[in-house]
Amino acid sequence: MESVRTQVVIIGAGPAGLMLGHLLEIEGVDSVIVETRSLDYVQQRVRAGVIEYGVANLLETSGVGTRMRAEGLVHHGIEIRLDGASHRIALSDLYDGRAITVYGQQEIVKDLITARRSSGAPLFFDATVTAVVGHTAPHPAVTVRTIDGDREISADYVVGCDGSHGVASASVPAGVLRRYQRVYPFSWLGILAEAPPAAEELIYCRHPQGFALYSMRSPSLSRLYLGVRPDETLDAWSDERIWDELTTRLASDESATITQGPIIERGITPMRSVVVAPMRYGRLLLAGDAAHIVPPTGAKGMNLALADVRLLAPALVASLRDGDDRLLDSYSDQCLRRVWRAEEFSTYMTQMLHPHPNDEFENGVQTARLRQVIESEDTARALARNYVNLSSL
Ligand code: FAD
Ligand code: PHB
Repeated sequence: MESVRTQVVIIGAGPAGLMLGHLLEIEGVDSVIVETRSLDYVQQRVRAGVIEYGVANLLETSGVGTRMRAEGLVHHGIEIRLDGASHRIALSDLYDGRAITVYGQQEIVKDLITARRSSGAPLFFDATVTAVVGHTAPHPAVTVRTIDGDREISADYVVGCDGSHGVASASVPAGVLRRYQRVYPFSWLGILAEAPPAAEELIYCRHPQGFALYSMRSPSLSRLYLGVRPDETLDAWSDERIWDELTTRLASDESATITQGPIIERGITPMRSVVVAPMRYGRLLLAGDAAHIVPPTGAKGMNLALADVRLLAPALVASLRDGDDRLLDSYSDQCLRRVWRAEEFSTYMTQMLHPHPNDEFENGVQTARLRQVIESEDTARALARNYVNLSSL
């Protein structure tokens, strides 16, 4: 089997893996990124859309934010819709003028791939890591399977940025990592539609029939979600049923109803929380969804993934360049503090906005919680800080 050597092997070309490669490249550290999917697939995969204030700054200061600043939509507030009435949470007024940017995850991925391509640093698509070995040895290695056969890449460090079902955490001997998790009794049905957004800001809606979210990607593309039963399948949802349900849940006395258009992408995502700890075993490190999943109601997943590698890159540089491992030794603890905070916020948002069909006590508590946000400036301010910038607090 052919063998290659580098300083850092990065498994996965999602936001975490690509950004880590980019930050290492800036510091002159060599890395190889290995991605199981095709280039087209990762560039088209529709996922997150909300970028926190501090994370947008990270993209800009590291040189990959030009298109985001030009094309991203800066939002200074969100709307909460409760029982047909609209309430604006003025994020920027509540939090030092800071705002979020709405810009698709796949656009960030494209921008990072362009940067990697122009530097010439290695990035392989259609290449699957099938094994990680030697975690506690001086030079761990991965086996990579491609259409041309297997090859081994050995390195000083291996970083698992391989998402929630990755090979990296699975390669660690049993008993080393703990996995904390919670499954929520909902899924999200998400669509991307060729329709100009009818609202200027995101709308988080709690309706007796369920949760709905109005988001967007550009002046001509709307992104909408419906909270559905956890076992729901797409076959049960015709275009007509999706639009009817969105129209019912998002109906409001005060503002325009939604604009409809051709649905160009759709999917169902189960909602769950996962934390894997610690985020390191020997010379294997974990970052992003490989180490933690949050339910999407708080819009935190991609932001946390980018915040992990913002810490990991200087830690790897210090170890490789100066032999100083202190930052690497504190990496997991520092990340996990923020991760648990994000789990708390995401759970809070989820449990405030998703009515339970058969639990009127729970629904009473949820409504009271949401009213606090609407009626108490202190509560709204806490929400604004977490929504706009949790990953940099
Ligand atoms: P991923 O993006 O999952 O990347 C992992 C990569 O590793 C993948 O490309 C995968 O193909 C590759 N891989 C896996 N196994 C291997 C292997 N063995 N060999 C090689 N490659 C491998 N987050 C937000 O911050 N804001 C939002 O608004 C938001 N909305 C969301 C809405 C939905 C519907 C969903 C599903 C998620 C949302 N998220 C949001 C979460 C966000 O999309 C994820 O947290 C983010 O993708 C994590 O990035 P990552 O790089 O860690 O993992
Ligand atoms: C999105 O635009 O995809 C989006 C926005 C807010 C969320 C989740 C997803 O909480």
